[in-house]
Amino acid sequence: MIQDSAKAGRTLDGARRPGSAGFGLPDNAAVQAEACAPRADAHWMRRALRLASMSLGMTAPNPGVGCVLVKNNELIGAGRHRRWGDLHAETAALADARARGHEPAGATAYVTLAPCTRTGRQPPCAQALVAAGVVRVVAALADPGQEDPSPHLPGIDYEVGCLGAVAAHIHGGFLSRITKGRPRVTGKWAMTLDGLLAKTGGGGWISSAGALALGRRRRRAFDAIIVGAGTARIDDPALLATRPRPHHDGRGPRRVVLGRTPIAAESRLRDGAAQLLLCTGQDGTPDPHDPPAVARWLGQLGCNDVLVEGGAIVHAAWLQADLYDRLDISVGGLTWTTGLPVVQADALRLPITAGVTWEHEQPPLLVDGTVMMRLRRR
Ligand SMILES: NC(=O)c1ccc[n+]([C@@H]2O[C@H](COP(=O)([O-])OP(=O)(O)OC[C@H]3O[C@@H](n4cnc5c(N)ncnc54)[C@H](OP(=O)(O)O)[C@@H]3O)[C@@H](O)[C@H]2O)c1
Repeated sequence: MIQDSAKAGRTLDGARRPGSAGFGLPDNAAVQAEACAPRADAHWMRRALRLASMSLGMTAPNPGVGCVLVKNNELIGAGRHRRWGDLHAETAALADARARGHEPAGATAYVTLAPCTRTGRQPPCAQALVAAGVVRVVAALADPGQEDPSPHLPGIDYEVGCLGAVAAHIHGGFLSRITKGRPRVTGKWAMTLDGLLAKTGGGGWISSAGALALGRRRRRAFDAIIVGAGTARIDDPALLATRPRPHHDGRGPRRVVLGRTPIAAESRLRDGAAQLLLCTGQDGTPDPHDPPAVARWLGQLGCNDVLVEGGAIVHAAWLQADLYDRLDISVGGLTWTTGLPVVQADALRLPITAGVTWEHEQPPLLVDGTVMMRLRRR
């Protein structure tokens, strides 16, 4: 996971990408900048956060928590929630420690989200940590999904907040779904230097082959990939992730088409390679022309992170509804002069330019001549 973008390119200042896949952890400087005392806690929490970033897009509706167990300043076990229904991070780390011949009693557990106290498909992690004799738990974030934000951990020193801002970024999709009732939404497009999304008459690629490949890999970190009916009809995209991770239905992110008009029977989206959801306003789906309703519906389906790939009508509507938390924008080094602008209608004058400040979540990448940016709301 973490090496993907290192393979794919360099940052614009020519440096090798630090070890992040272009999703997950923000750049190392941001991680290191956050004060966390004592220093050792920050060190171990970063390990747990890296594990958590590997589970993005795999565990919905659960958060992909990471955990490391440390005893006498040595890592004795590490675990993460790998997919929905599997062991939670804390129990995975305890099992890992025991499998390596270590006794977890007396250890400190670093977890990216407070240990759960409820029995779901897995027993409560708080209980497992207590039973194992762990003496200290350091959590990056409280869990807003728990009724009691401070877990009951008798006999354990409990602290929360270490690298909390980084954890809030990694678990941002889960936090959004729990607190706002909708997933974290990332809008994605590729555009020419003159701001076009598609060429008049169709055809032609904006992004380099390397940028397209990275874009396909990045889909793995999402629970759903969304396009409008226009894009489904004109491009006939497959919307698959490269080497999809085992999502809970086993086949990678869901593909979602927004449109009242049905898509063609021979569409590649109907190939069965990943789940296809047609949001038509029929069969219990919301009106596809109502982005907030679609976002809420995706939240109800358990999606934490979704990627809206367009096209122009969809981007205009979702920008107008102010739903984009992040933007993935690729700029190819070419001009087309005539074609479809990035967003139709008046949306460019709306939230994207009206008072919303965007910041680079990571340094931009230059991938075979295409600039790839990931921005988030400041
Ligand atoms: N460069 C890129 O990154 C990129 C990415 C994607 C697409 N594209 C290009 O974009 C072009 C397609 O864009 P497009 O703007 O024509 O189509 P689109 O945005 O993909 O789809 C528009 C259609 O989706 C439905 N729809 C969904 N949400 C809607 C809403 N909120 N309001 C109104 N209608 C909504 C409508 O169909 P119904 O009337 O059936 O409901 C509408 O006609 C293609 O040429 C494609 O190559 C480029």
